[in-house]
Amino acid sequence: MQTQLKNIKVEAEREIASAKTPKDIEDVRVKYLGKKGALTAILKQMGGLSSDERPIIGQLANEVRDFIGEKINASMKKIKKARLDEQLSSEKIDVTLPGMRKTLGHKHPLSIVLDEVKEIFVGMGFDIVDGPEIETDYYNFEALNMPKHHPARDTQDTFYIDENTLLRTQTSCVQIRTMENSEPPIRMISPGRVYRSDAVDATHSPLFHQIEGLVVDRGITFSDLKGTLETFFQALYGQGCVVRFRPHHFPYTEPSAEVDVQCFSCGGHGCRLCKNEGWIEILGCGMVHPVVLKNCGIDPEIYSGFAFGVGLERIAMRRYNINDMRLFYENDVRFLNQF
Ligand code: DAH
Repeated sequence: MQTQLKNIKVEAEREIASAKTPKDIEDVRVKYLGKKGALTAILKQMGGLSSDERPIIGQLANEVRDFIGEKINASMKKIKKARLDEQLSSEKIDVTLPGMRKTLGHKHPLSIVLDEVKEIFVGMGFDIVDGPEIETDYYNFEALNMPKHHPARDTQDTFYIDENTLLRTQTSCVQIRTMENSEPPIRMISPGRVYRSDAVDATHSPLFHQIEGLVVDRGITFSDLKGTLETFFQALYGQGCVVRFRPHHFPYTEPSAEVDVQCFSCGGHGCRLCKNEGWIEILGCGMVHPVVLKNCGIDPEIYSGFAFGVGLERIAMRRYNINDMRLFYENDVRFLNQF
């Protein structure tokens, strides 16, 4: 029995030394110290020993059990630590790697130009007013002297929500809302989105932006309109910019005019962008029609005013020499990065 115990000790020690995983160690433990293990089997035979032998074998068996137990614990610790070290070294973070730079966005070119426009008009004493994009037929057309079936509605076909509710085709409706809600003197601009069922091309889009302007006071004349708009264009485009006023018709102004800028793509010679005309229409304007003033409860015998509506995309295109308005909406960073 003594030899058996010594063999168990030697074999167990060898097996523990060659164990590589926690499972290997656990197997050794079961094999020697488990309920059906080799050492347990020997302890069970102790009853058959003489009273001389029993304490000697008993002591030896205890020593072997303690020895194996300690070896198992130590080896388990070693294997677990080795595994942890391996994991730590394979997962370590290289703190010397350069970080990921966050790219900062910036304002869209349309917002940049709109901010400039606002600043110019605020400098001339104008307020900035907001209006709804979902409008009623009354504010978008009727109150602007465009009753149902008026031919001027043809160029402003839009998206109807129901018979009387639509996506506004122009910012001119804000003129009406402003005159209804305030007393002259009025000096305001109102920028915002407008909608038309137009096909997309280099100068048209079903959604675009306008800036409406309105001045109402005693003694306002067409010279005030011309002077204000010329001052505006020179502030925006520089003293050398060439604009022209051309007679036109709008139902809500009398007299009315359109303002063209010399084509910035061809310098007035004629090209695809200006449809060979040399000029690009940029703005509609005129003296507020007496009927419109009356519709808003303002006495045309006492007050007069001028109004204008300008396309934000068009002035931004002229400002940056952009020849296709689709670029504003495509969100291509190679384009947007340039501003
Ligand atoms: N609403 C016109 C358009 O969308 C532009 C316009 C013309 C606005 C004359 C005005 C104006 O205020 O007086 O084409």
